[in-house]
Amino acid sequence: MISTFTNTDANSPLAAELAQRMANRKMAKEGRTIIFRIKRCDGPGKPSRWEDFKVPVPKNANVISCLQYIAANPVTAQGQQSTPVVWDSGCLEEVCGACTMVINGKVRQSCSCLIDDYAPGEGDVMTLEPMSKFPVIRDLWVDRERVFHNLKRVKAWVPIDGTYYLGGGPKESPQKQETRYKLSECMSCGCCLEACPQFNLEENKNEWDSAFIGAHAISQARLFNEHETGKQLKDDRLDVLMGPGGVNDCGNAQNCVKVCPKHIPLTESIAAIGRAVTVRAFTRFFKD
Ligand code: SF4
Ligand code: SF4
Ligand code: FES
Repeated sequence: MISTFTNTDANSPLAAELAQRMANRKMAKEGRTIIFRIKRCDGPGKPSRWEDFKVPVPKNANVISCLQYIAANPVTAQGQQSTPVVWDSGCLEEVCGACTMVINGKVRQSCSCLIDDYAPGEGDVMTLEPMSKFPVIRDLWVDRERVFHNLKRVKAWVPIDGTYYLGGGPKESPQKQETRYKLSECMSCGCCLEACPQFNLEENKNEWDSAFIGAHAISQARLFNEHETGKQLKDDRLDVLMGPGGVNDCGNAQNCVKVCPKHIPLTESIAAIGRAVTVRAFTRFFKD
């Protein structure tokens, strides 16, 4: 039975990390210079290397603003001319997931990562690496196509024709709305996949449909299976999730729920879909 640990528990490692971040923020020195150690790569298949950059940081700076400084001053800490570091971003407010990278060894969004929380002192070092479970396009920019491919595998949408008025939709209880609202906050960032021991880098697209689908897709299947209109496709979703790379490939390591920036109860979703898949398997067995 999968337990339902969430990363908002008071005694969770996240609570300790938050306390440390608050303490760092309080003692962060104005006008300090810190070092960014960045894993660089010039393109797909090229070897990677580390480069250090010195960056003066004002209070409340985030990682993206420091990357912008480096882009304008691409000179290493050793004084060698380099090239601007490449990264991806969109919303700059932790909504699109595009800026996700591994910061000081932990996957998270660079737009919402404040330097004061991690490098409060003069000369402190922060490391930036691209996510390892997706192909690197260049430097910190990775190709997250597989995240969206896996959402397509489970038909993570409501099947309605939006071209004409269909009348009011079916009613839904406030409790159900509340559950679904939390699940709907997923921004397809890929943090849960980066942390998952069952989800590995797979550059061959032909293998994607049999490799582990990931916690985000399982949770989105639950979101749409519990939607009064979306549940028309419930059986299709469960059929995919009982097949190769489906929910049974989850090893219950629970890393996913610990790193989800939106605190989505992923292990609850995995348990709920696990039960639904079992019921679907019985139904199919007696029908076929
Ligand atoms: S609980 Fe499952 S999906 Fe989450 S990290 Fe573990 S193996 Fe991956
Ligand atoms: S479930 Fe959480 S960690 Fe995974 S893609 Fe969605 S927001 Fe990111
Ligand atoms: S830029 Fe959108 S989440 Fe960071």
